[in-house]
Amino acid sequence: MKINVHYSTQHFDDLYFTGKTSVVIDVLRATTVIVTALKNGAREIIPVSTVDFAMKVSGNAFGGQTIIGGERNNKKVEGFNLGNSPLEYTPDVVTGKSIILYTTNGSKAIVKAKFSENLFICCFHNLPAVANQLITLDKDVEIICSGENGNFNLEDTICAGRLLSEIKKINENIEISDSGKASLILNKSLGKNIAKMLKDTEHGKNLIESGFAQDIKVCAQYGITDTIPFFFSGSIRKMETEVAQNNLNELKAS
Ligand code: MLT
Repeated sequence: MKINVHYSTQHFDDLYFTGKTSVVIDVLRATTVIVTALKNGAREIIPVSTVDFAMKVSGNAFGGQTIIGGERNNKKVEGFNLGNSPLEYTPDVVTGKSIILYTTNGSKAIVKAKFSENLFICCFHNLPAVANQLITLDKDVEIICSGENGNFNLEDTICAGRLLSEIKKINENIEISDSGKASLILNKSLGKNIAKMLKDTEHGKNLIESGFAQDIKVCAQYGITDTIPFFFSGSIRKMETEVAQNNLNELKAS
């Protein structure tokens, strides 16, 4: 099993991920929102890469069961129902809903990896569950940090390092790329106190300035759910049980 880490999606076109097993991370805050919304009962998340497309899709979709969420410059976009705080995606708001999600980096990274054979969504909340899933699958893995406008960011890289370290605890024999080794080192030196690490990042400081200090604490929670979101055919759903996995396999085969 080989594991590679991408610090952003800048240097790859969509076709690079064709047939691969990929994991997208955007700790602050898109992938934390996705995990939270599915854990809280959302039917599916539809990631999009432009605001226009979000508006267009929402206009003709799903008989009133649709919510548009996400952000521009950390704030809710005009005309959207929700912003990009995981605290907004509560069971009473999201249960049974299809959520169209646009964010600056996270939703775009997922769209970019859409041709992956297996595409999972990870944040600190579900990291141990994702690690177990990857160990069971036993395929080479591309971990994609959403980064910041095409650049490296610390929080996604440290989350990638933690994912690698959890996998390594069970499977010593993995082959890790240079970028993966660097993410392991960063996790070891800065990842012990996740909330503090997030607070000290550029994006963390930005969020605090924009009034979202509480989100940092929420995004720092570790291993609180087994919810594993997977992307298939344009939408992200919850893969929870063996039954769900069998359904996914049948769907893929049909
Ligand atoms: C992103 O996709 O860049 C983020 O989720 C931004 C945010 O914190 O809302």
